[in-house]
Amino acid sequence: MKIKTVASALMAFSMLVTAVAVSASGSERGEYGERGERSEYGSSSRGGSSVEPVTNQQYKDECGSCHFAYQPGLLPERSWRKLMSSLNDHFGENAELPDADRQALTDYLASHAGDHSDARRAQQLVRSIAAGDAPLRISQVPFFQREHREIPRRVIESKEVGSLSNCQVCHRTADRGDFEERNINIPGYGRWED
Ligand code: HEC
Ligand code: HEC
Repeated sequence: MKIKTVASALMAFSMLVTAVAVSASGSERGEYGERGERSEYGSSSRGGSSVEPVTNQQYKDECGSCHFAYQPGLLPERSWRKLMSSLNDHFGENAELPDADRQALTDYLASHAGDHSDARRAQQLVRSIAAGDAPLRISQVPFFQREHREIPRRVIESKEVGSLSNCQVCHRTADRGDFEERNINIPGYGRWED
């Protein structure tokens, strides 16, 4: 009788441990927002945007001429300030601007940066960066790298895609700030189902 009680207590205990372990791993997954999660922009749901769309025409013209006009919410303010103070050596290109334009665009980027955004993906990106770091590339942000690590190299390096910097090639609604999974369609690969 006594032995039986001990055994069932042990059994109950191990079930409890398992339950705790399962729920802990569940919440860790949830933190980075895997499938099944509601897509929303900020606290109000606005057509599934992951980050606030670009609203500044000058930014679109100046910073969208060589590549996709990356939304300010994709990097923290400290990254944008660093990037904007070294435009003469911008990833091997000279993207220098007149002072007044540079100042106006820096203000726009800084005030709409990921650390001042209430959009969920922007917050996830920024929170994944260590406090002292100011990456200049979105593709160096830990949350970004986690989200993209399962994409085969040959798919990224294909003629149609080229590199992960070309967001809009795979994220067909990227210009609306919408990076949600259902709107991904990778050239030469197709839709992404994980
Ligand atoms: C003269 C062309 C040119 C202009 C203008 C330009 N860029 Fe770039 N930018 C580049 C190149 C080249 C890269 C590197 C792309 C690559 O590695 O595939 C780059 C990369 C970037 C990246 C990193 C993307 C990543 O991999 O995550 C950011 C952010 C960026 N640019 C922001 C800006 C901003 C903000 C402006 C406007 C002030 C701007 N760029 C204007 C050429 C330009
Ligand atoms: C080669 C195609 C490709 C390119 C280029 C690409 N992505 Fe992605 N992206 C993906 C895939 C695939 C996922 C994973 C979707 C999933 O599993 O939920 C993803 C996930 C994301 C997510 C998380 C979305 C979610 O709802 O879970 C964000 C945000 C994102 N990408 C932003 C970007 C940005 C910003 C760029 C450009 C700097 C970029 N991506 C470039 C294919 C791409």
